[in-house]
Amino acid sequence: MREEDEVLESIRLTGERYGDQVRRVFLADGDALVLPTRRLLNILEAIRTHMPAVRRISSYCLPRNLKKKSQSEINELAAAGLKMVYVGAESGDDQVLAAVKKCETFASTCDALDKLGSAGITRSVMILNGLGGKVYTRQHAEQSAKLANLTQPEYLATLVVSFPKGEQRFSAEFPEWEPLGQQELFAEMEQFLSALELKRTVFRSDHASNLLILKGTLGADKERLLSQIRQAIERPQDADLRPTWARGL
Ligand SMILES: C[S@@+](CC[C@H](N)C(=O)[O-])C[C@H]1O[C@@H](n2cnc3c(N)ncnc32)[C@H](O)[C@@H]1O
Repeated sequence: MREEDEVLESIRLTGERYGDQVRRVFLADGDALVLPTRRLLNILEAIRTHMPAVRRISSYCLPRNLKKKSQSEINELAAAGLKMVYVGAESGDDQVLAAVKKCETFASTCDALDKLGSAGITRSVMILNGLGGKVYTRQHAEQSAKLANLTQPEYLATLVVSFPKGEQRFSAEFPEWEPLGQQELFAEMEQFLSALELKRTVFRSDHASNLLILKGTLGADKERLLSQIRQAIERPQDADLRPTWARGL
């Protein structure tokens, strides 16, 4: 954690230089919501004071950071300007979450998403395609869809698990993990999407790690997105896939 005074001072200085031009603020870095509510409220207030044109403040949020925060504290954060959080659920499957040492469960992620939703904070949930490897692919897809169905996030994104520095460290901790090939990644996506029952969620699979770019609103675009995946499974040569050189984290 950075010193509170240093953070408040940098907000003041940013306000002095760019005050009216700033519309969006992201609370960096990894997990700003690990801070006590009081400190977060001071930061949100400083942003409002020094950058009055800000319309959206967002942050990453690990579900466990909300465990100790009551519903009324989260409501206060929302009222103070926290509009949107990105929650790296990664999977809804407890075995996958344990294998990758996320230190979260289906239930802990669900609780956090429900608390955020009740406070009116927009939730953007990330799921990692391929995270369970071959061994858990089915349950990873099914349980991740179940998590989304239960919590109905406003945004849902899938990224492909990637290892820019090699897989060794990951495989050492999760020895039964075998990477999914291109077709298996698509098959997992098909299973995940088929099981989704969302009322109004913006779905994006367009991060640089994705081979197949998918965008739409669920449920309205479910059949179109599924047919794009099925086409990529049946005729990968005709699918508009992102070239390997353009993929990354
Ligand atoms: C930069 S991380 C920070 C999030 C936060 N610290 C957490 O652990 O939930 C944001 C998201 O990037 C994605 N991500 C992280 N490592 C990844 C990897 N090796 N491959 C693909 N996506 C990854 C995950 O969905 C993660 O939640």
